[in-house]
Amino acid sequence: MFSKNEYEFREWEKFFINRKNFPKWPNETLTRLIYGNFLRKKIKLKKNSTVLDIGCGFGNNFTIFKNFKSKLYGTEVTKKSANKIKKILKNNKINADIREGNNQNLPFKRNYFDLVMSLNVIQYERSLHDINLAFQEYSRVLKTNGDIILITVAPKHYSYKNAIKVSKNVYSLKKWHFIKDQIFFYFDSKIYLKSVLKKHFKNIEIGISFENLMGTELEYFLVRAKNKK
Ligand SMILES: C[S@@+](CC[C@H](N)C(=O)[O-])C[C@H]1O[C@@H](n2cnc3c(N)ncnc32)[C@H](O)[C@@H]1O
Repeated sequence: MFSKNEYEFREWEKFFINRKNFPKWPNETLTRLIYGNFLRKKIKLKKNSTVLDIGCGFGNNFTIFKNFKSKLYGTEVTKKSANKIKKILKNNKINADIREGNNQNLPFKRNYFDLVMSLNVIQYERSLHDINLAFQEYSRVLKTNGDIILITVAPKHYSYKNAIKVSKNVYSLKKWHFIKDQIFFYFDSKIYLKSVLKKHFKNIEIGISFENLMGTELEYFLVRAKNKK
């Protein structure tokens, strides 16, 4: 699949292919958002509901949805990485359809998903224009009134605080990321994030999670919204 991020996608592929051990446990914050009482309205998934995890990494977040009997789909940025993740999930007895795809190119028909998740993936877009193209693509594959959960880096995160500003909301990380000269798009406030999301989604709820893990600060924006179209 052609993409303007071809170089970065190859680097991610090397990361996935070379890695010998990988996490099997899901993102704790996501687990609490799905099962706890933190959202204004709980996310309800019927049997056979369709769930997509964009940039699903090792696929470890699928375990959360085993109980719901949902149909699970994921994307990874190259065919080779997608195939590796498929194998890992098969070994862990998780049935998920993993395809090559990315924020701006999701290989699914429109109006297909009940829930789309973008967990630490949207920041890999390089400009506001690209962010809008990605949100437009998320909205295309979501059903009318379908749910989106999005998690992305917030200003107190170490990778935000150590980044070099290139232009408004656009940052370079130099030594802090394994991909040389990777560009990131970081939202600097809830208000700004909401103003961008508003073009594509409605009923937007934004929270923040913050941890200081032995000196490493991790801060994320947590978004739950519904498809606008
Ligand atoms: C920080 S990891 C997060 C993985 C997983 N979502 C999680 O939360 O554990 C970023 C993931 O995004 C994928 N990725 C990188 N650029 C992307 C893009 N432009 N569109 C979609 N996925 C991308 C990477 O291959 C990687 O799996």
